[in-house]
Amino acid sequence: MARTVYYCASSLDGYIAEADDSLDWLLGYEGTFEGEGAEPGPMSEGGAYERFYEGVGALVSGSATYEWILDHVDVAGGGGWPYAGKPFWVLSSRELPVPEGEGVDVRIADGSVAELYVEMSRAAGDRALWIVGGGGVASQFAAEGLLDEVHLTVVPVVLGAGKPLFEHPLPGSMQLAGTSVFNNGMVELRYEVRR
Ligand SMILES: NC(=O)c1ccc[n+]([C@@H]2O[C@H](COP(=O)([O-])OP(=O)(O)OC[C@H]3O[C@@H](n4cnc5c(N)ncnc54)[C@H](OP(=O)(O)O)[C@@H]3O)[C@@H](O)[C@H]2O)c1
Repeated sequence: MARTVYYCASSLDGYIAEADDSLDWLLGYEGTFEGEGAEPGPMSEGGAYERFYEGVGALVSGSATYEWILDHVDVAGGGGWPYAGKPFWVLSSRELPVPEGEGVDVRIADGSVAELYVEMSRAAGDRALWIVGGGGVASQFAAEGLLDEVHLTVVPVVLGAGKPLFEHPLPGSMQLAGTSVFNNGMVELRYEVRR
């Protein structure tokens, strides 16, 4: 079965978005770090995000995350669906619009992640199933024993409130598997989930 990886960015105090879904703290963050081993920022060309994304076979998110993407990426205006060529499951109890365009494969699904996992895993093949977010979706996978790894890019910003990285305590323990430091002051922590 495909490995599931919750890959996202978090504030220093464990939030992935502000209460109003703003990501300005992340997208606008400008820090520097010139210490040993610093690599170019995660979103730079050929950087950590691109390398991670190459290993992704399928994606899954909650509806708030999907609607944020639709609101902020000008898909129809030529910006293009950023995940073309990879199936993207959106968990929702509602009917949601799906963008048109070459390679767009958005599947709106309502149900337990355990039921959907087999189909998602098959679609991901020998690549990873990327849990894009949010914290409730990651917690659903964890509760079913279906979360394998957490890759967290920590941004040194304290929000004080917002959308949490996880919605519930994580069953089992986590083992540090790797770290990366970036020249923009962010740090990536990679953990394996032990069950
Ligand atoms: N910092 C980062 O890297 C990062 C990463 C991802 C997301 N984000 C941001 O974080 C925020 C995430 O918000 P969030 O955690 O509140 O929401 P979310 O997980 O994106 O969406 C939650 C919603 O998804 C639907 N849903 C979840 N599980 C479901 C299931 N099993 N079956 C059917 N529907 C299900 C429900 O809404 P309905 O049924 O009403 O549709 C639920 O209210 C967004 O602003 C997003 O942009 C940040």
